Amino acid sequence: MSSSLSEQPATPRGALVTVRGAEKQFPALGGREMITALDGLDITISPGSFVALIGSNGAGKSTLLSVLMGAQFLDEGAIEIDGEAVTDQPSWQRSDKVAMVRQNPENNVLGGLTIEENFALAVMGPRRGLRLRRYPRAEIRANAAAALAGFGMGLEDRLDESSATLSGGQRQAIAVAMAAVRKPRLLLLDEHTAALDPKRARIVGEATTEIARQHGMTTIMVTHDLAHAMHQTDRVLMMHRGRVVLDLSGPEKDGTGVSDLAGIFERVVGEALPDRTLLAVS
Ligand SMILES: Nc1ncnc2c1ncn2[C@@H]1O[C@H](COP(=O)(O)OP(=O)(O)OP(=O)(O)O)[C@@H](O)[C@H]1O
Ligand SMILES: [Mg+2]
Repeated sequence: MSSSLSEQPATPRGALVTVRGAEKQFPALGGREMITALDGLDITISPGSFVALIGSNGAGKSTLLSVLMGAQFLDEGAIEIDGEAVTDQPSWQRSDKVAMVRQNPENNVLGGLTIEENFALAVMGPRRGLRLRRYPRAEIRANAAAALAGFGMGLEDRLDESSATLSGGQRQAIAVAMAAVRKPRLLLLDEHTAALDPKRARIVGEATTEIARQHGMTTIMVTHDLAHAMHQTDRVLMMHRGRVVLDLSGPEKDGTGVSDLAGIFERVVGEALPDRTLLAVS
């Protein structure tokens, strides 16, 4: 008797995220060929874990976050988040469960609003429009200040200021703090420190880990910063050509150095790493 994917128990007991048999293709530019972004990918993520997602350009990392967010949909396969099948659910329907911080600071904070108003919008949702006078101001300010304090940038004292002149690092700190005050079960970070200078990237990266743990958010962080990936997380998943090719956690991860990753990649994939600079130790 054959059993289809939908008949199988999709979520192992207690998992916060389960992705089963995920397939996603895109039409290649200017031709009839298709590009495979996700190629039968399976992932299970435990509640409260902080997972780094690494891999070379085009491996499918952003596509995976995008289908978890609901910005794009799988061709085949199934996704469950927090016990709910969300495979075909649009992003607004899962927005109370999932938050995402993107790479470009300009995309995460609205320059025309104050810092406080950005938080209000994040908490109240876009459906409330910009009628921002009607929100629980004291509560939002207190939560925003508490989350921002974790970054040590003094932003908690600047809630009334316009966001227009904020630096990239400040915007990303605000974006992570805004995600945290919404209390999503799942936080998705797509190279959220990549546009920052190394010092700011480290500050925002370390504070992000701390805030995610404090708020109990299960986190998937795409990064090319392998030191951050190896040292500040519970688990490292390496993707290649739409699949997970390496899954490190516990003592195995602790015993693996950043400089070991290229050799491990070559052993498990059976070919040289396409771009060795991705695994360069900074
Ligand atoms: N909207 C799209 N249209 C066409 N092709 C796409 C689209 N989105 C992704 N792709 C292709 O799918 C593959 C996976 O892309 P994806 O952005 O998920 O990779 P990535 O691992 O995030 O890479 P990077 O590290 O460069 O950000 C790539 O070959 C990419 O060109
Ligand atoms: Mg990407």
